[in-house]
Amino acid sequence: MSAPVLTAAAARVIDAVKVYGVDDTEVRALDGVSVDFPAARFTAIMGPSGSGKSTLMHCAAGLDSLTSGGAYIGDTELSGLDDRRLTLLRRDRIGFVFQAFNLLPTLTVAENITLPMDLAGARPDPEWLETLIDVVGLRDRLHHRPSELSGGQQQRVAVARAFAGQPDVVFADEPTGNLDSRSGEEVLNLLGRTVREMGRTVVMVTHDPVAAAHADEVIFLADGRLVDRMQNPTADSVLDRMKSLDVQEARKP
Ligand SMILES: Nc1ncnc2c1ncn2[C@@H]1O[C@H](COP(=O)(O)OP(=O)(O)OP(=O)(O)O)[C@@H](O)[C@H]1O
Ligand SMILES: [Mg+2]
Repeated sequence: MSAPVLTAAAARVIDAVKVYGVDDTEVRALDGVSVDFPAARFTAIMGPSGSGKSTLMHCAAGLDSLTSGGAYIGDTELSGLDDRRLTLLRRDRIGFVFQAFNLLPTLTVAENITLPMDLAGARPDPEWLETLIDVVGLRDRLHHRPSELSGGQQQRVAVARAFAGQPDVVFADEPTGNLDSRSGEEVLNLLGRTVREMGRTVVMVTHDPVAAAHADEVIFLADGRLVDRMQNPTADSVLDRMKSLDVQEARKP
């Protein structure tokens, strides 16, 4: 039994190791990462392609399991949960935003936003839902279908859906990866507002220093390890750090 985790981390991993494959096909996607994602903060995960960003996010969010080490949502250790309880935890305490918006084309915007809760037989808090619809700026699009929306608007629907159940933490993997820079900016501002005005917690994987600059803190991965953390990032400071990581990559034997 591990010691209880008492600080205000919405999510964390401790000594996280994830190995894919066996023997000569073995890949250590995570090689001993310990990091916490504080509540009511916006954290970005950056690093070169293949450095383990998506793996870290998937394991922290209970979409994939660690080979060793621990992943926690609040004080709940995920490996201790059976499938049913893990499904419930993901449903009730975690929201997801992916690069592909994953909206259902036959449903309206309003129906897409509440879909996970409807499937779960849960009722969204009406006041929260109203606030959310205004924050994402979709009030005049509620009865449209996704195909009638721009990419940025569709991703804002996906963001509203992720927050509808008031989850403890929302994980986003490259949420602006399919958007032009203006739509991307809208979605990033939206994620920032959910944290700063609504006290939500966001963890976002991104390649883009401009996107990372919206976060309160950036953590940097290289080769499955945590190599740096940066508070109050700017696009320039993140870009400089990325360049030095790339140089280190290139110098490897
Ligand atoms: N299902 C899998 N099976 C085998 N290897 C995998 C699997 N998923 C990821 N990997 C490997 O683990 C390493 C980390 O992958 P991961 O997807 O976490 O990287 P990433 O930092 O998200 O990269 P990108 O920026 O390209 O999305 C890579 O070497 C990748 O090839
Ligand atoms: Mg990835």
